[in-house]
Amino acid sequence: MVTRVPEPATLDPIETASTDELQALQLKRLRATIQHTFRNVEPYRRKCEEKGLSPDDLKTLADLAKFPFTVKDDLRAAYPFGLFAVPEEQVVRIHASSGTTGKPTVVGYTKNDIDNWAEVVARSIRASGGQARDKIHVAYGYGLFTGGLGAHYGAERLGAMVIPMSGGQTPRQVQLIRDFKPDIIMCTPSYMLNIADECERQGFDPADSSLKVGIFGAEPWGEPMRKELETRCGLDAVDIYGLSEVIGPGVANECIETKDGPTIWEDHFYPEIIDPETGRSLPDGEFGELVFTSLTKEALPIIRYRTRDLTRLLPGTARTMRRMEKVTGRSDDMLIIRGVNVYPTQIEERVLQQPGLAPHYQLHICRSGRLDILTINVERRTDATASDVLVIASSLKKVIKDYIGISSEVRVHEPGGLARSEGKAVRVVDERGQ
Ligand code: DLL
Repeated sequence: MVTRVPEPATLDPIETASTDELQALQLKRLRATIQHTFRNVEPYRRKCEEKGLSPDDLKTLADLAKFPFTVKDDLRAAYPFGLFAVPEEQVVRIHASSGTTGKPTVVGYTKNDIDNWAEVVARSIRASGGQARDKIHVAYGYGLFTGGLGAHYGAERLGAMVIPMSGGQTPRQVQLIRDFKPDIIMCTPSYMLNIADECERQGFDPADSSLKVGIFGAEPWGEPMRKELETRCGLDAVDIYGLSEVIGPGVANECIETKDGPTIWEDHFYPEIIDPETGRSLPDGEFGELVFTSLTKEALPIIRYRTRDLTRLLPGTARTMRRMEKVTGRSDDMLIIRGVNVYPTQIEERVLQQPGLAPHYQLHICRSGRLDILTINVERRTDATASDVLVIASSLKKVIKDYIGISSEVRVHEPGGLARSEGKAVRVVDERGQ
């Protein structure tokens, strides 16, 4: 693997500006955003007025902590366009989250919003080692999901050649990767594993493909998964983070030279960490819930949006801007199994450490009487023999009990036996009801 570190001259000046300069820009933009929202988004203005707050109460960046949060239910309550801060005729695009229950959340963009979004995604691809001369295969889904079009506009803005493949049709994805020889792929990490399996099915070693960089996100993935993807696919695996309510992909992206957690593009998105129980702001370095305020958005400015993603803020390394530790869990992903709190990525880490197991897994939870039953469905690798399976299953059971503290059943399926993702993987099937 040759690491492609971007030339300093190709970075946006703000990426390496001083902290003072960055904070001055943030304060200016934050004031404008609060004013714009207060003036044009009635539900948010009401929330502020209930607390006796007006835009004049924001004099420093720290004053933001006085302002009310925005949560997903605020978007749902205003469905579809009630939080838009501009007349509908100025909105040139909408996206929406599918949402497992209830109404979807709808987000809107003006022409300037699309422009800024393309900029931050282009910056993200550049931070990942992408260049204008690259060919970029986009396998995030196109449509109401922000992944496909978000990646697409950013790749075009960089000047790259975009292959707008979208998700699905996996055999065809592999054929086009072999024929068009892209340098970069953008998709979920779980879908990349699916593509790698398909390569092997076609008798083609994924490590021999033209791909040099994978820009993976939209779902949690830990360091063991990075190692698996890099080794198996012969590329640099870089993390892209984002969420539709804040803009889509490109809120933060890892720098290829450090791969130490996504750098937050703080000139557009102001991060905070709060205690998820009390809502109190926490200092940098402490774990809690990530909260974002948009600094440049027009159609859907968002103030103190509670992402439910759990992480912490870290000082900048490759850039001045702060980093976030790789998100490996959301507060609503947390499972309580027999009274023990568990995140699916904790189990993922253990699955990936078992030689003989493929990196695919799905957790199934049901109840027998008053007891929770966790079944970890995994797959044996093709090079592991069926007789290895018993040893593997008992060893996985043991590490899950020793390190996570819960008893489980492990079901080892044959290679290809578990459903594959074409986008965000479904890691948990919880049949316990309420
Ligand atoms: O998943 C936007 C996106 C598209 C990001 C493509 C990256 C690449 P939503 O569908 O609104 O938007 O889901 C947002 O996905 O709050 C996180 O819980 C999770 N997520 C996104 N990126 C990452 C990541 C897109 N790199 C939700 N690591 C977020 C961990 C991620 N979780």
